[in-house]
Amino acid sequence: MIETERLILRNYTLEDFDALYEIMSDPETMQHYPAPFDKDRTMGWITWNLDNYEKYGFGLWAVTLKETGEFIGDCGITIQDIDGEMLPEIGYHINKKHWRKGYAKEAARACRDWVFEHTSYNEIYSYMKYTNIGSYSTALANGMKKVKEYPDPKNEISYAYSITRDEWEKLKKG
Ligand SMILES: CC(C)(COP(=O)(O)OP(=O)(O)OC[C@H]1O[C@@H](n2cnc3c(N)ncnc32)[C@H](O)[C@@H]1OP(=O)(O)O)[C@@H](O)C(=O)NCCC(=O)NCCS
Repeated sequence: MIETERLILRNYTLEDFDALYEIMSDPETMQHYPAPFDKDRTMGWITWNLDNYEKYGFGLWAVTLKETGEFIGDCGITIQDIDGEMLPEIGYHINKKHWRKGYAKEAARACRDWVFEHTSYNEIYSYMKYTNIGSYSTALANGMKKVKEYPDPKNEISYAYSITRDEWEKLKKG
């Protein structure tokens, strides 16, 4: 469990299905994906993350509001193919009711800190379709910089952002 000023990040459970489906089935939210998710893919997303916790000790975690316990999305770390390399990646999805309140930034920063404090990775990435301004703005707000731009069959062009352990240590020292 990760606690921030306003959020608690915890493991997914199957009970999160309805709240996750509201996010993943929404065409506006999923505009940078090939298509919104149906119920099977949404359930597959949860079970993929339950497997990730077992396999890696991390995954995408459910993001909930500390005050009410409301599930508002997910954020966490998965291993992704970024231009042919399997790399640790911070991903995020927030219910559009709660966009632009700083929740993705708050959750992503906590995940970035968690990676450098709890794993031996020396660089953590975020990648996205080139059109996904919200996603790369969140990466920038997470102290990352653009390190790659490459053709990607599922995104046409993908951008990759990252922050290294050295950069993170400097950031933390202010
Ligand atoms: C990307 C996403 C998670 C951002 O969530 P959010 O909670 O609204 O983001 P925040 O409020 O924390 O904003 C983080 C930064 O990005 C900026 N930002 C967020 N959405 C933006 C948008 N649509 N356009 C421009 N900037 C945006 C914010 O201004 C903020 O920057 P700042 O700190 O410099 O002010 C959300 O838009 C989302 O769920 N999108 C759909 C799912 C998705 O595409 N996920 C990424 C897959 S690669």
